[in-house]
Amino acid sequence: MTTRSQAGTESQDAPRPGRGDLAELGVEGLRSRVAEELVRTRERSEVLTGSVDDDDLTRQHSPLMSPLVWDLAHIGSQEELWLVRDVGGAEAIRPDIDDLYDAFQHPRRDRPQLPLLGPAEARSYVGEVRTKVLDLLDRTPLEGRRLVEQAFAFGMIVQHEQQHDETMLATHQLRKGPPVLTADDPPAAGAEALPAEVLVPGGPFTMGTSTEPWALDNERPAHPVHVPDFLIDTTPVTNAAYRRFVEGGGYDQPRWWSEEGWAYRQHAELTAPRFWRRDGDGWLRRRFGHVEPLPPDEPVLHVSFHEAEAYARWAGKRLPTEQEWEKAARHDPRTGRSLRYPWGDGDPGPEHANLGQRHLRPAAAGAYPLGAAPCGARQLIGDVWEWTSSDFLPYPGFGAFPYREYSEVFFGPGHKVLRGGSFGTDAAACRGTFRNWDLPIRRQIFSGFRCARTPRPGELG
Ligand SMILES: [Fe+2]
Repeated sequence: MTTRSQAGTESQDAPRPGRGDLAELGVEGLRSRVAEELVRTRERSEVLTGSVDDDDLTRQHSPLMSPLVWDLAHIGSQEELWLVRDVGGAEAIRPDIDDLYDAFQHPRRDRPQLPLLGPAEARSYVGEVRTKVLDLLDRTPLEGRRLVEQAFAFGMIVQHEQQHDETMLATHQLRKGPPVLTADDPPAAGAEALPAEVLVPGGPFTMGTSTEPWALDNERPAHPVHVPDFLIDTTPVTNAAYRRFVEGGGYDQPRWWSEEGWAYRQHAELTAPRFWRRDGDGWLRRRFGHVEPLPPDEPVLHVSFHEAEAYARWAGKRLPTEQEWEKAARHDPRTGRSLRYPWGDGDPGPEHANLGQRHLRPAAAGAYPLGAAPCGARQLIGDVWEWTSSDFLPYPGFGAFPYREYSEVFFGPGHKVLRGGSFGTDAAACRGTFRNWDLPIRRQIFSGFRCARTPRPGELG
């Protein structure tokens, strides 16, 4: 079956109480909220796995990705482990497949060789797990154990499925063939001229969170950080700006690259962002099966950390640290508080940010004026994940929860932090405090960046 499917769904556009206010919903309100999120998330997974035929589902489109049918059954397997068995205390449904869907046992490139559940079996398995979960949601006390306080385990599983939905969207981007997903275009940029960069004055701010109910262990706890003066780009770096770097010989000059970055650029023979192709004097890019002229005003997409870092050096700037990024996104100088999102504490709506696969491309730089941060920077949330210069490290006072393999085993200099979510990220898996991480060579993800710099002596008067 190859049908054209709308990736955006209407339900995600309805106004919703903020997730930070889950405590105000009461137990029954919390249960219906969880059920809504589970159902909404599953609809997305069904679009991503129902828009291609069985052959496409079971095939590996890139050694970087799992077959889509692995993601699907893995979503069910994690839901079974955490909700059916751990929270619900129920008997295992398919203990025989635990190992097949353990991401730590089998690297992605090996997954097509495993005796995986077929598409029909995988669908029936995830459906059976979900029926059990909705049943236990009605009768499980949501207190008395940290795992279930404010329905944390359910929130974790919603986020897990949403993260795989973004991963599956990246697989769709890698698959060959005609387009199967459609969505409306994002809003245009406003007509007003924006400054190229904004100043974030030096001083302390509160980084991370101790109160966000569904925040994951690596976002905790809230802690004070002093950040000196810095300037940050108002918007992510655009295709037009990045093209100047490419055409100005940026990929041929080692002086813009770190030693490691240059070695990778040589080894992988990089000449431009992934999915770009030269076309006479111009450039084309491939996007979910469409080959189209490179849109100059859109944030650049599918660049590795190394490419982002080289561009920033070429531009006379640098990547922001993770602390700078979060301060730009959350610090409200009027109150001294850190906001949940750049625009305030309310959950993201379609007027704030390009999230949730509502659109299958980033919006032009300068869009979403209602999503601007107090410092004036735009599109910090949504559109493209933004590489920072920081290694993925624990915050002071970090405690692994509920398992070490969620974050702790990834801490260290091998992984760089990305912030802010992309058009492929759901609001449930994106907050001002949310931290993503990846290898510095990765570029099949929906990654872009913006630059920052330290003011020159005397520049600020
Ligand atoms: Fe997973």
